[in-house]
Amino acid sequence: MSRGERDAPGNGHTVAIVGCGSMGERHARAIIATDHLEPRLRATHLCDRDTARADRVAALFAQAGLPRPSVTARAEDLFADEGLDSVIVVLPTAAHHEVCVRALRSGKHVLVEKPLALNLEQASAMVGAAERGGRVLSVAENYRRVGANRALRGLLDRSGDVVSMSTDIVCSLGRDTRHNAADWYGDPDIAGAYLAHEMGAHEMDLVRFLLGEVESVYCVPGFPPHEDSRDPRRANGLFALLRCVSGAVVQMNLRSRDDESPGGSRRIVLEDGHVLSGAWEVWDGWHRARDGVRTTTDEVLAAHTDTAESGTDAAAPAHQPLRPLFARDDVARSGTASAVHEFAQAVAGTGTPEIDGVDGARTLALCESLILSARTGVPVFPEDLLHDAGIRL
Ligand SMILES: NC(=O)c1ccc[n+]([C@@H]2O[C@H](COP(=O)([O-])OP(=O)(O)OC[C@H]3O[C@@H](n4cnc5c(N)ncnc54)[C@H](O)[C@@H]3O)[C@@H](O)[C@H]2O)c1
Repeated sequence: MSRGERDAPGNGHTVAIVGCGSMGERHARAIIATDHLEPRLRATHLCDRDTARADRVAALFAQAGLPRPSVTARAEDLFADEGLDSVIVVLPTAAHHEVCVRALRSGKHVLVEKPLALNLEQASAMVGAAERGGRVLSVAENYRRVGANRALRGLLDRSGDVVSMSTDIVCSLGRDTRHNAADWYGDPDIAGAYLAHEMGAHEMDLVRFLLGEVESVYCVPGFPPHEDSRDPRRANGLFALLRCVSGAVVQMNLRSRDDESPGGSRRIVLEDGHVLSGAWEVWDGWHRARDGVRTTTDEVLAAHTDTAESGTDAAAPAHQPLRPLFARDDVARSGTASAVHEFAQAVAGTGTPEIDGVDGARTLALCESLILSARTGVPVFPEDLLHDAGIRL
C-alpha cells in the first residue's frame, strides 16, 4: 500500500491527543513510530489549551511525512466529531475524569495516561461510562511494557514462588517539575500525591504485574525537617509493606530527593534463591537469577521470544515476556509505543487492552491505600476501597 493510500480518509482508525505537554508529545511520537504497523491509528486532531504546544506536536507529524492534525484549544470541539474514533488523554491527572467520561459518552474509545484518575470515585465513573457505552478504556502505564520489566516477569515465571521483594526508588519532585515543565506535580489537588500517585502508580502497577494482586498495605510517611505539614501527600518518603494475595511480601521505599541521582533497584527473593534487577525505568536492565548468572534484558527476552515477529508482540498474553517492540535508539522504547499499538488493536476490535479501567482502578486503589495508611497508621485493604467506590472486580 502506498503512503497516499494509507493516509486516505477511512484508512486506519482516527485518534485525537488531548494534552500536548511532555507526555502528549511522547504519545505523538509513539503514534508516528507505530504508523508502519497494522492496525494503525491516524492522528487527526490535537488539543491543548496552550495551542502553541499543540502546534509544536502537529509539526512532528508533518516532519514524519504524515498528514498534519488540526489543532484546537477546547476538548469539547472533539466530542461531537463523528469522524473521530478515539482519544488519548494526556492531561494533568485531575482533568482525566471529566474529559474521559465526556469522550466515552460521545462514543469515543479512550486511552488515558496513568494514574487513571485522581481518586476512586472518579475512576468508578470512568469505568461505568466505558461499560455502559461498550467502549475501550485503557491505561497507558508504560513501566510494565519496558523490555527490562517484561524480562523480569519472564525470569519470575520460570523461577518458582516469590517470598518477598524490596524496591527502593529515588525520584525528585524538583527535578521532575523542572524537566517536564509541569508545575502541577507538587499540587495534591491536581496530581494526587507526588510519591503515591505520580511515581507510586508505576511501582504499584509493576508489583501487580510481577507478583499479582495486593491484599493489604501498611505505610509510614517521612517528611523533610523544614516541612510543617504532616499531610502524607506532601511526604518526601513513603515506606510501605505490602502483602500479596499469593503470600509474598513487598517492602517499598519511595523517596523524593534532590541530592541523590534518580534511580532504583529491585531484589526479589525466591524459595531457593533470588533475582536482582538493576532495571528501574531504564531500557537496558540486567538481572541475576538464582544460578548466579547475570543476564541482560535482551538475553532473557531472546530466550523467550525466538519466533516472535516485531510488531506482533503487543498482542501476546501479559504473562509472556515480550521483547522490546522497538530498536534501542528509538524514542518509543519507553513502553508508550507498545501501549499505543495495543490501543490501536483494541479500537480495531482485534485485541483487548492489557490494562483496562478496572485494572487501572486496582492500581489507583494501591496508591490511595498508601496515603490512607500513612494518615491512619493502620493497614488498609485496597479491595475495601474499590468496593466502597462501587467498582466491581
Ligand atoms: N507514563 C509516564 O512515564 C508519565 C510521565 C510523566 C507524566 N505522566 C502522566 O501524564 C499526564 C500528563 O503529564 P505531563 O507531564 O505531560 O503534563 P504537562 O503539564 O507537561 O502536559 C499537560 C498539558 O495539558 C494541557 N492542558 C491542561 N488542562 C487542559 C485542558 N483542560 N484542556 C486542554 N489542555 C489542557 C496543558 O496546557 C499541558 O500542555 C499525567 O497524568 C501524568 O501523571 C506519565
